[in-house]
Amino acid sequence: MIRKIITTEDNSKSIQLPEWNETYHSTHGALNESLHIYIRSGLIPAAEKNKTLKIFEMGFGTGLNALLTLDQSVKEKLTVEYHTLENYPVEYELVGQLHHTENEDMDHLKNSFDLMHLCDFSVLTPILDSFSFIKYKDDLLKFEIPANQFNVIYFDAFGPRIQPELWSAAMMQKMFNMLLPGGRLVTYCAQGQFRRNLREAGFTTHKLEGPKGKREMTLALKPE
Ligand SMILES: C[S@@+](CC[C@H](N)C(=O)[O-])C[C@H]1O[C@@H](n2cnc3c(N)ncnc32)[C@H](O)[C@@H]1O
Repeated sequence: MIRKIITTEDNSKSIQLPEWNETYHSTHGALNESLHIYIRSGLIPAAEKNKTLKIFEMGFGTGLNALLTLDQSVKEKLTVEYHTLENYPVEYELVGQLHHTENEDMDHLKNSFDLMHLCDFSVLTPILDSFSFIKYKDDLLKFEIPANQFNVIYFDAFGPRIQPELWSAAMMQKMFNMLLPGGRLVTYCAQGQFRRNLREAGFTTHKLEGPKGKREMTLALKPE
């Protein structure tokens, strides 16, 4: 599938899949979207309760969410174990053309970011002293991982228009099982059927204000 680099409205770059008419991030601002949804609504509230966090990301993609999480973890002195799933890795050369580390003064994290892309799959890799990272090359539909271990899930699959099977009640049950009690899942998707699927899996759902260009996003909580 052809991957085309685009510049989004906040000047950060992302990838477009012309065949699917889909992008890896919001065209209204890739950086702004990742910060708003995953960092400010996912990581930061979780870090208020716990300085040691285990995070799972569905869809490593270009690595922007992982990079921003690394940056925030350094700023807040958090200890993070970051797990991410990606079945169709983006070519390293293409990732370089996105210049993600030039956003938000993250140049000092360039080597760490490169390591995330270049490290082996399925090996827990120390990126910094307090940040370890593991990526799995697998399909979410088949992926198995022990239950009750994550504080936060970033659910960043392509939209339900493209891949409805990834947003099903069965997949949300999988996410629910992976989270610790009190854990949170955040995503850009605010679709009604998806929220019903979350509730069917046992989550409580909350509408939060979306990033620029999107009215709402979803926060789902696993009861304590
Ligand atoms: C919206 S993009 C993720 C963007 C990413 N979080 C970032 O910061 O760049 C969705 C990702 O999910 C991956 N993906 C699609 N179907 C998948 C599947 N069945 N299992 C695992 N990953 C999948 C895609 O290859 C793509 O990288």
